[in-house]
Amino acid sequence: MRILFVADIVGRPGRRAIEQLLEKVVRDYGVDFTIANAENSAGGMGITPPIAVDLLNQGIHVLTSGNHVWAKKEIFPFLDEESRILRPANYPEGVPGRGRGLFSAKNGKKVGVLNLEGRVFMKHLDCPFRVGEREVETLRRETNIIIVDFHAEATSEKMAMGWFLNGKVSAVLGTHTHVQTSDERILEDGTAYMTDAGMTGPLASVIGIRKQVALERLLTQIPWKFDVATEEIELQGAVVEIDSETGKSKSIERIRIPLKEKVSPDEKG
Ligand SMILES: [Fe+2]
Ligand SMILES: [Fe+2]
Repeated sequence: MRILFVADIVGRPGRRAIEQLLEKVVRDYGVDFTIANAENSAGGMGITPPIAVDLLNQGIHVLTSGNHVWAKKEIFPFLDEESRILRPANYPEGVPGRGRGLFSAKNGKKVGVLNLEGRVFMKHLDCPFRVGEREVETLRRETNIIIVDFHAEATSEKMAMGWFLNGKVSAVLGTHTHVQTSDERILEDGTAYMTDAGMTGPLASVIGIRKQVALERLLTQIPWKFDVATEEIELQGAVVEIDSETGKSKSIERIRIPLKEKVSPDEKG
């Protein structure tokens, strides 16, 4: 079976890429199950309930997230209500939402999805390795097809997670940097790995942000408000082929699909 993993959807340009390209990608690759990281889908920062519903209605089975999921407060109750949106599992007890879920793919197979966040150059959360191990054990009681979105900054921490969960999950796929890496591979015990899936959004930017604003912030140290760029939009991510009996991965393909349509810089959000 094939799983499509869509890298961080950034703002309206990222959402437009989903609207225009997702259906074709699913058809062309024979995808049975789709996961997308949506932590930046609303205006480049956070996610709102209507945007989440809209993405789910377009055929995405599960939305994952990361450190930016808290940016729009209206998502808090929704994280508790809607099981198809995850936030990293290693947040302190009592915060809204959940970090793992069990879902059904188009071919009827159960797929476990786990979202974790790194700690290197990031916030002080619970240990993603220990929490990850525990959560994977819970999911493995139900299925051996498990996909992990490890939302982390440091390549070293991500690679370490790949080896840590090697043979226990079908794939460890990195998000958060918005820069796609070319190190996709199948680790020796059958876990597909890629340090970062990239970004579904505007490439003529600084990780999705309009480049003039990003530069101004760096040159002046004044926290100018970010806005999302609109040029050179791509849908990025990976397609993983998994043996649905063993849960081991057979192949991983990196994808970058350009959107031909233009998004006007005046379109906000
Ligand atoms: Fe992101
Ligand atoms: Fe992030």
